[in-house]
Amino acid sequence: MVSSPAVDGRCGVGLLSALLLLLSASGCSAMDVLVPSEINALNGTTIKIPCTFTSCYKLDTTKFVMNWTFHETANDTEEMFMAYYKKKGMVALRSDRFGDRVMFAGNLDKNDLSITLSDVQPEDAGIYNCYVRNPPDRIQGQGIINLVVVTELPAPRDSTIAVAIGASVGGALALLILSMVVVKCLRRHRKQELISEEKMEEEGKLEAEGVAEEETKQP
Ligand SMILES: *[C@@H]1O[C@H](CO)[C@@H](O)[C@H](O)[C@H]1NC(C)=O
Ligand SMILES: *[C@@H]1O[C@H](CO)[C@@H](O)[C@H](O)[C@H]1NC(C)=O
Ligand SMILES: *[C@@H]1O[C@H](CO)[C@@H](O)[C@H](O)[C@H]1NC(C)=O
Repeated sequence: MVSSPAVDGRCGVGLLSALLLLLSASGCSAMDVLVPSEINALNGTTIKIPCTFTSCYKLDTTKFVMNWTFHETANDTEEMFMAYYKKKGMVALRSDRFGDRVMFAGNLDKNDLSITLSDVQPEDAGIYNCYVRNPPDRIQGQGIINLVVVTELPAPRDSTIAVAIGASVGGALALLILSMVVVKCLRRHRKQELISEEKMEEEGKLEAEGVAEEETKQP
């Protein structure tokens, strides 16, 4: 028997939809580590460095593996400053760079591995990695966050000038619009007056004409 191409096509569609159904039925979101690619922090402040992950499997505290590392540039070696341990959970490791400024701020039940970094220093700028392995998921995830440290807010003098310029430009614009509206209103008012005068004139005329007509109708 020779199957026609039409039948083959239907078979293909059927197979594909069956596969899709199977995938969606499993309700499984692939291993993925979710992080912002860049964070800006003002030095001296406390910031949260978020990291969450999705996985087909519920986090098993006896098998879970994760750690946070830091390096200033991609060329530097990574320094591990926090890790997960079966017995102790999330632990901040001894670090000359961070001291006790790093804290776990996530929630393992919610696949949240976020941390906070307090008293941000200019030297904290660099790359933060959130490594996750959630067995039996075989895929190892990695989130990469670039932390930018801002040492000062923009100079206030510049911003006041900007505000002043903005305000004056805005003010001028508002005045222009206001005057346009006023002129338009005045014009419309005058027009209306003209129209009503015209109307009155016209009505007067009609009346006169009506009278004239009535007069002419009379024999
Ligand atoms: C921010 O960084 C600058 C430069 O290192 C430093 O002089 C200043 O004291 C820092 N400010 C705070 C609030 O830590
Ligand atoms: C890393 O090293 C390579 C070669 O050693 C160099 O070309 C590159 O500029 C370096 N990148 C950074 C960010 O320092
Ligand atoms: C950090 O965790 C990742 C993911 O499981 C692992 O591959 C890596 O070896 C760990 N790094 C260290 C230094 O333990």
